[in-house]
Amino acid sequence: MCGIIGYLGRRPATPILIDGLKRLEYRGYDSAGMAVLDHRVQIVHAVGKIANLEDAIRGKELSGSLGIAHTRWATHGEPSLVNAHPLMDCTGKVVVVHNGIIENYAALKRELVGRGHTFRSETDTEVLAHLIEEFDHGDLPAATRAALKLIEGTYGLVVLHADHPRMIVGARLGSPLIVGVGDGEYYLASDVAAILRHTRRVIYLDDHEIVTLTDDVPEIRTVDNGTELVVKTHTEIEWDLEQIELGGHETFMHKEIFEQPMSVRNVLRGHLLWEEGNVRFGGLKMSEDELKAVRRIVFIGCGTSYYAALLGEYVLEEIARLPVEVEYASEFRYRNPVIKEGTAAFVISQSGETIDTLAALREAKRKAARILGIVNVVGSTIAREADGGIYLHAGPEIGVASTKAFTSQVTVLAMLTILFGRARSTVSLTDARRLIDGLDALPEQIEDILRREPEIKAIAQAYHKHNNFLYLGRGPNFPVALEGALKLKEISYVHAEGYPAAEMKHGPIALIDEHMPVVVVAPQNAGIHKILANIEEVKTRQGKIIAITTASARDVIAKADHSIVVPETLTALQPILSVIPLQLLAYHIATLRGCDVDKPRNLAKSVTVE
Ligand code: AGP
Repeated sequence: MCGIIGYLGRRPATPILIDGLKRLEYRGYDSAGMAVLDHRVQIVHAVGKIANLEDAIRGKELSGSLGIAHTRWATHGEPSLVNAHPLMDCTGKVVVVHNGIIENYAALKRELVGRGHTFRSETDTEVLAHLIEEFDHGDLPAATRAALKLIEGTYGLVVLHADHPRMIVGARLGSPLIVGVGDGEYYLASDVAAILRHTRRVIYLDDHEIVTLTDDVPEIRTVDNGTELVVKTHTEIEWDLEQIELGGHETFMHKEIFEQPMSVRNVLRGHLLWEEGNVRFGGLKMSEDELKAVRRIVFIGCGTSYYAALLGEYVLEEIARLPVEVEYASEFRYRNPVIKEGTAAFVISQSGETIDTLAALREAKRKAARILGIVNVVGSTIAREADGGIYLHAGPEIGVASTKAFTSQVTVLAMLTILFGRARSTVSLTDARRLIDGLDALPEQIEDILRREPEIKAIAQAYHKHNNFLYLGRGPNFPVALEGALKLKEISYVHAEGYPAAEMKHGPIALIDEHMPVVVVAPQNAGIHKILANIEEVKTRQGKIIAITTASARDVIAKADHSIVVPETLTALQPILSVIPLQLLAYHIATLRGCDVDKPRNLAKSVTVE
C-alpha cells in the first residue's frame, strides 16, 4: 500500500507535496520521491522516511506549481533509490507514481525490452511509464488509457509529462485515488489525509475511471471510453485529519483487523490456478522436480509467526503428507540442528528483521538447507538473504500485535499445501479445487465475522476484569488457541495460556474455578465430541466457557456460556476464520482496561535485538 499525491495550481508544488507525503507515511515508508515540472522535469528520490526526502531536496531549486510525489510500500523490487517512485520512461518525459500490483508486468516488460526500451528499476510500475511512451502521440490521456488497457492487476496511478506543463492524469483500478478541488488548484491523492489541509471538496474516482487535471475543470472519463465525460458528485469532507490516517478507526490495530478481507485478497491475488487445481509462486524459484524432491520442511519463526508455522505443520502433514518440523528460531539457532538432505527451511516473519529468525536462517544456510522466506516487508533482510520466497502483500502492519500478517501467513501455508500436494500427487485435482474455492471464499467470510464485533465487544465487557484466561483447542485449533492467548497477553497484560485441550487433565484443570474464563476454539469437525468432553470438565468445575465455534456445532453452543459463531469452511482453512474473534476479543478487553493497544508496554514491532 503506497501513498500518492499530485498538485496542479498556482503555488509552489514542493511544500504541498512534502506535507501530503507526511500525511501518507503510514501507508508505507520504504522510500519516497517527487517530481516537479517547470519547463523541465526535476525528480528527487530518497530511501526510508519522508524526512530523508526533505534532506535530499534541501538546497535544490525545485520550482514549479505542478508535481507528483510518492511514498512506497515495496511490492516488487527492494526498497532502494533505483526502485523509488516517481519512475520514468526512456525519454525522461513520462513520469509516473503508482499504488497497486501489476500482475502481468513481467510479460509486458519482456515485450517492451524487445522493442528497445531500457529499464532502470526492478519494479512492476516502470512498465506503465514505458507503455505510455509507446502510445504517446501528443495526447497524454489517450496514451495513458491505451497503456492501462493492457494492465492486469491494480493501480492508483498519477502521470505527468514534460511536454504537457499544465496537465496531470490520474486513474484507478482497485487502489484508491481521489481528486481534491481547491480554488483554482487541483489535487490527486491516495486518501483525503494528504490534501485535507488544502480543501474539503473531493471527488472519489471509481474503478476504471481516468481524470485529466488542467487549469480548467477536471475531466473524468473511463479507461475504455475516452470520449464521454463521466459526471461525478463532489463530496465535502467532515472528518478531521487524525481520524483519516486511521481510516476512521480508533487504532492501527483495529484498522488492520478490519483490513483482513483485503489483505487476504491481496495474498491470494495472482496465485490461484483453479483450472489446473494448483497455485503459482514464482518467488519460490523452485521447479516441479525441485518441489517433488523436498522430503521434509522445517518452519522457523517467533511469536505469532511461530504459531502460523504450527498451523502449516497441520495442513501440510494432514493433506500433502509431507513431514514438517516447526522450530522456535531462538532455539533453532543455538542447538546445532541436524538438517537432512531434501530439507526446505521456510523462515516466517512479518517484519523480515527479527534477529532470532535471521540468525536461524543463517544457521540453516550453513547446514545447506534451501532457505525460503514468507515475509511481509519487501526487501527486508530475511527476504534478501533467503534463496526465494513469498511476500504477503498485506501492507504495512503498524500495530505491534500482529493480526493481518498472521491470517495472510496461514493463507500462504494453505496455498503451499496445494503446491506440494500436487507436486507429490498427494492432493487430487478435486481436492485442490475444493481448497481453492475455500480460499476464494475467505475474504467475504471474514467480513461476516467482523460484522459480529458488537457481540464480541459485549463478551469483552463481561470478562475484561479477569486476570487469568485459558485458551484451549485440539488439532489445528491448538495453535489458534496459542495465538489468541498471545494477543490477549501482549496488548492487555492479562495472563493467558494456550493449551492443547486434551492436556487439561494433566495439570491445568487444577486452575479451573469460577474466576477462570476458558476460551475454547471448537468449530464443528471430526473431533468435536472430544472437545465437548473438555468443555464438560470445565463446566463441572464452575469454569466459564467462551466458545469460538460454527453454527452446526449445536452441542458446543448449548454448553458454552458465550458462543461466537464463525462461518464454516474446510478444516484446513477454519483457523483463518476462528482467529478473527480472538483478535477482537483481545482488542476490546485491552481497550476496556485502558491499554495502548498499538504500542503495548515493553514491546516493539520488530525484535531486532537479542
Ligand atoms: C505478535 O503479535 C508479536 N508482535 C510477536 O510475537 C511477533 O509475532 C514476533 O516478534 C515475530 O515478529 P516477525 O513476524 O516480524 O518476525
